[in-house]
Amino acid sequence: MLRVLHRRLSDRTDTDSGVDVRAPGQRVNPNVRPGLSESSLRVPYSRIRELAEMAMGMEGVLKLYFGESNLPTPEFIKRAAVRALEEGYTFYTENAGLPSLRRAIVRHYARFQRVELDPASEIVVTASGVQALQVALRALLDPGDEALVMTPAWPNGSSIVAMANAKAVQIAQPLQGERYGIDFDAIERAVTPRTKLLIYTSPSNPLGWVATEDDQRRLLDFARRRGLWLIADEVYDRLYYGGQAIGEPVPSILRMATRDDAVAVVHSFSKSYCMTGWRVGWLVARADLAKMAAEFNEFVVSHAASFTQRAAEIALDEGESTVVSFVARLKENRDLCLDAMTRMPRLTVPSPDGAFYLFPKVEGLTDSFEFCKRLLFEKKVGLAPGVAFGAGGEGSIRLCYAASLEVLEPALERLSAFLEK
Ligand SMILES: Cc1ncc(COP(=O)(O)O)c(C=O)c1O
Repeated sequence: MLRVLHRRLSDRTDTDSGVDVRAPGQRVNPNVRPGLSESSLRVPYSRIRELAEMAMGMEGVLKLYFGESNLPTPEFIKRAAVRALEEGYTFYTENAGLPSLRRAIVRHYARFQRVELDPASEIVVTASGVQALQVALRALLDPGDEALVMTPAWPNGSSIVAMANAKAVQIAQPLQGERYGIDFDAIERAVTPRTKLLIYTSPSNPLGWVATEDDQRRLLDFARRRGLWLIADEVYDRLYYGGQAIGEPVPSILRMATRDDAVAVVHSFSKSYCMTGWRVGWLVARADLAKMAAEFNEFVVSHAASFTQRAAEIALDEGESTVVSFVARLKENRDLCLDAMTRMPRLTVPSPDGAFYLFPKVEGLTDSFEFCKRLLFEKKVGLAPGVAFGAGGEGSIRLCYAASLEVLEPALERLSAFLEK
């Protein structure tokens, strides 16, 4: 039965509902068993996870495949969580999150983006960025709808679309010289009567690409003209190297959008505050979507844990100097890796303006998963295969440089030796 389901799915064509299982490198989830929904087969298995699971059983691997810093959460945030527990933040909160945290998020946008938001109707605190995306997409997509997803991208966007029984239509960002761009013609051509929204990520994981003001204006114009929602994943907005000063964020799409625009922004405490394990994020959205997302929170996790919400509030209010020194350190790492990798054979390395990844193209590479597997077994270096990031990703590899020099330096040496073979 399972084999039959697998065969049926691998026979599917582009026009079937659900994610296109023939998208480059996607694998039918091997964990699906008879009795589980057929739609769960459309949710592709994470190829980063697949590689990481091999590495986890090995000793001495230099692990640069996941998207997180190896720095622990700053002490003042940990202390705030302990204090919050002692102060009684142990009960249910509002579905949309603690009002005081929503006000802190609004202050944050006023300070860094010069954008005025309403904490009561436009902000929803979530148990992570991925959960913000989950409730937003669930509130927007019906089965059979289509979502345009700009890729290469963190795979969860397309997978969440598939979980909603909708179809992710991936549109590759072309590498134009040294920089990734947007194929606006392809985006226009991809629109069908079922298209509901477009998801883009800036700064991008894995590209490090940052949308220019002109890109943002054109994306917003496209969404307005076509009557689509524009979903901006801005979880890396503080990790930006293109500003006038370290710590200056990437300008949010919210600067350009009006409160009536069909625009939503996904955000998280994970990346800028080294809080990946805490699971706190937020959604900024037009009031109708925000209301529905808050209601959906009830049926997913009800709300993010109370004491972590309180600690997140302290992180926003008191964390500025920590963020700035983190970004300064990341910039040094980026420069070090960029310098080393541009001298390696076979690599073309676009210079990233944000996030904490390098995504070099490897000359002649047609199977990035196999490449990363061999690099893992032969050199004990764990990188993420480009194929994991959807259309346009095959042929590249992703390195996360939010690591200590003790890991980065030997990893670069081993990668270089591997490529020279
Ligand atoms: C582009 C992007 N968006 C959202 C997230 C979600 O972060 P979290 O769920 O930890 O808040 C990630 C994590 O890797 C990411 O890379």
